[in-house]
Amino acid sequence: MKVTTVAVIGCGRIANGAHLPALSQLEEVRIKYACDLIIEKAEAAKERFPKIEQVITDYNVALSDPEVDAVFVLTPNYAHYTVTMDALKAGKHVMCEKPITVNYALSCEMAEAAEKAGKILNIGVCNRYHRSVEILEQMNREGRFGDLYHVYCSFRAFRAIPGLGGAFTTKAQSGGGVLIDWGVHYLDLILYILGGAKIKNLTCDTYCEMAKDMKSYKYEGMWAEDTSDVENGTNDVDDFVTGYIRTDKATISFNGAWAQNVDNRDCYVDFLGDKAGARLDYCSQFTFTDGATLESYRSEHEIPDMYLCEDRDFIKSVNSGVKNRNNIENILESAKLLDYLYRSAEVSKEIELDK
Ligand SMILES: NC(=O)c1ccc[n+]([C@@H]2O[C@H](COP(=O)([O-])OP(=O)(O)OC[C@H]3O[C@@H](n4cnc5c(N)ncnc54)[C@H](O)[C@@H]3O)[C@@H](O)[C@H]2O)c1
Repeated sequence: MKVTTVAVIGCGRIANGAHLPALSQLEEVRIKYACDLIIEKAEAAKERFPKIEQVITDYNVALSDPEVDAVFVLTPNYAHYTVTMDALKAGKHVMCEKPITVNYALSCEMAEAAEKAGKILNIGVCNRYHRSVEILEQMNREGRFGDLYHVYCSFRAFRAIPGLGGAFTTKAQSGGGVLIDWGVHYLDLILYILGGAKIKNLTCDTYCEMAKDMKSYKYEGMWAEDTSDVENGTNDVDDFVTGYIRTDKATISFNGAWAQNVDNRDCYVDFLGDKAGARLDYCSQFTFTDGATLESYRSEHEIPDMYLCEDRDFIKSVNSGVKNRNNIENILESAKLLDYLYRSAEVSKEIELDK
């Protein structure tokens, strides 16, 4: 069995909750380094995941180690670009968390750098490995929906602004709010299920309403609270977004909220075809409705850990050299989409994409 040696850069939530558990299960992977600027975080990860051999605070130690084949970039968004570019220059394959980076232009530079280096660069749009998404993508390819003309999605929560005042809510560090943080997953999985849809034109509006005064924002437990800085930090990102997109395959409309004054969590994607339709409950099962028989059924398939599937396939891609569904080349269209949605919101106008 070929063993692939990796380093994990960034030992925060996604490292501990998703990739370290996955990599620990993969026999074909050796985790030589866990790196974090905050040594205690790397040490705590080593404690939880004994497969980690060494802890470091400078990722260059891992990049200059010839034994390391690939690195996992699990840092906040603002560091994705620099760490990934350095890793590619050092001849490493990279699995970088979503979003690619804070804008489309830098995302394209990362794709070019990977191509030039002849290395695999994957992006962690993990939903492409969710079993429901895989099944819906196949059903669409098989024509089960007939003409799939519209997709609607909602990613709305009641009180879920993360780390208020910290990196998540500071545009210069995150690239945006709920659209880039949650919308990236929904819009990317939609483009994927539609079979690589290309954007024609779009319109979007973003709002930063619920925590204009950060100190008076009422929350019920704030995820990423350890990064929050309500006293001195910044909140200049979207907590609500709405948009409409025309593609060469179907139209898409969406609403997203990190927070709203409606006490509900509505997270689903509706696929409307002239023969059949489906509602995908986010990260869960879906309901399929046949327009001819008026029968509906709820899917009841197994849902393996999507991060495990994603990481296993990345390692396979590293070793075969064959680019897979999460290769950056296949994610650029959704990065472009996010960028143009923000541009449309900035100018309050519909935008026609360059041909
Ligand atoms: N795929 C998903 O479902 C999913 C879910 C959550 C987060 N994410 C993405 O994962 C990334 C990390 O998010 P998180 O919630 O784990 O953040 P986090 O703040 O919990 O962890 C990030 C860690 O990176 C460390 N770090 C920052 N710069 C570093 C550097 N130069 N070298 C080494 N370590 C460095 C920080 O100290 C921190 O411990 C983000 O890009 C986020 O969008 C993806």
